[in-house]
Amino acid sequence: MNPSRRSFLAHSSVLPFVGLLGPGYKSPQDFYEQMEATIAQHKDRKQVFNMCGYAAPAIPDLRVGYIGLGNRGYASIQRLGRMEGVEIRAICDVYDFPIQRAKDFLRLHRRPEPAVYTGSRDAWKALCEREDLDLIYVLTPTFYHAEMAVHVMASGKHAAVEVSAAQRVDDCWRLVDTSERTRKHCVILENCVYDFFESMAINMAHQGFFGDIVHAEGAYLHPERPLFDEPKPPLSKESAPWYGSVLALAPGNRIPTHGTAPICQAMKIGRGDRLDYLTSMETDDFIRAKTANALAASGSAYHQQFKNQRHAGNVNTTMIRTVSGKTLLVEFDAVNPRPYSRIFQLAGSRGFAQKYPLPPRIYPDGEHLADAAEMKTLERQYTPELIRSIEDTAKRFGGHGGMDFTVDWRLVDNLRNGRPLDVDVYDAALWSSITPLTLWSVMNRSAPIDVPDFTCGAWRTNPPLRLTLDGGGNTVVRDVPG
Ligand SMILES: NC(=O)c1ccc[n+]([C@@H]2O[C@H](COP(=O)([O-])OP(=O)(O)OC[C@H]3O[C@@H](n4cnc5c(N)ncnc54)[C@H](O)[C@@H]3O)[C@@H](O)[C@H]2O)c1
Repeated sequence: MNPSRRSFLAHSSVLPFVGLLGPGYKSPQDFYEQMEATIAQHKDRKQVFNMCGYAAPAIPDLRVGYIGLGNRGYASIQRLGRMEGVEIRAICDVYDFPIQRAKDFLRLHRRPEPAVYTGSRDAWKALCEREDLDLIYVLTPTFYHAEMAVHVMASGKHAAVEVSAAQRVDDCWRLVDTSERTRKHCVILENCVYDFFESMAINMAHQGFFGDIVHAEGAYLHPERPLFDEPKPPLSKESAPWYGSVLALAPGNRIPTHGTAPICQAMKIGRGDRLDYLTSMETDDFIRAKTANALAASGSAYHQQFKNQRHAGNVNTTMIRTVSGKTLLVEFDAVNPRPYSRIFQLAGSRGFAQKYPLPPRIYPDGEHLADAAEMKTLERQYTPELIRSIEDTAKRFGGHGGMDFTVDWRLVDNLRNGRPLDVDVYDAALWSSITPLTLWSVMNRSAPIDVPDFTCGAWRTNPPLRLTLDGGGNTVVRDVPG
């Protein structure tokens, strides 16, 4: 049930910040009306083509382009630059330093020199027009992602997009529309679904080890983010204002995908069940405004923009119910001093698993904690084939302990071998849509809002996720240090 416009407007005091969530909102009313129009427009939408389980034609020699070569972009170049059957043909950034750094790495690894696109904020469009690319990574600040990914697919390439893939519900639909129309994948680079314990627990859940997963919890609790750091050109010059403003000022769950994605996979969301509606509640701000004002008072020119602003709440808590009557709890907190945690909790009718903030633990019967020997046995039995095959290499070349390597390698290997992908455009849209949906609910005194069914009903029959290698697993990684 959607609350009335009057209710919405009555709680619009947080809305001066709504424009920060994405381009195009002129006012609180505008946000409300656009959400309402988007929901109405897609109510009876029919799927054009089902991208879930779709195996695009194999591309043994994968030609890759990159847009955005900052923190995430350079790390990804270092991973793909080591893979056989991959050529990084074109790179794009608005600054020289990241371009030079990427070129230096590829030269060191005796890889062909990529074509460079730079000189303007729109240079990426020319990269998309190239005929000799199969896959384009979009690793720019978040507010660019949807526009760039749509353009990538419309230009006939698969898109690999960092989190979140979109910040508005209509943009989520645009990703779905474009992917189905072009039959090009839109993969969200959600690394947390490939963390080693999560992958094993997802596999266990799918094999019924925990019984029915009745309730699951996930989170992004990461207080040490330098929300008020001044950008250090050239690397974070573009992203830092986003971290500093949107994360600090706009309500709702601003980083939803890391917590939501693994529990959605464990609960077969999009592949047997779907998210029905959510309700979101947020605390007030007890830290940010004080910090921002103190920094501004210290004389920093950069921090004047945050002075005397009303800041978003510090902790966002969201409850989601699925159509089959199960629940998810998703939290976000980037401020309070607390241990890093993504929670990752699965509460089943037979067993229980949780990873954070304590080390991973499994209660096979819900009561006794599996000891080290039992955990080893479970790992031997349930670690998915994918993880077994790549774990050592992933740990060696790292990225958040190896899960970043796995997300890249798996994508490349599946595309090279014409295999379906683990994560599809519906996942990208769904996990990303949590941000605008929670914003809406918070602004409406936590009123429930329907979660769009981006699969248009296909969730009932979509094939199960399989973290196996059949027909793939042959992408060689050059074991070269540096
Ligand atoms: N999955 C994860 O664990 C994880 C971790 C951190 C960040 N992220 C996400 O990755 C994305 C990038 O974050 P980052 O830390 O690499 O940021 P960054 O600022 O280090 O890098 C962004 C790069 O994009 C470039 N850029 C900006 N506008 C551009 C344009 N118009 N054309 C071409 N290049 C442009 C910038 O110059 C910069 O080099 C963000 O969306 C963020 O949310 C994901």
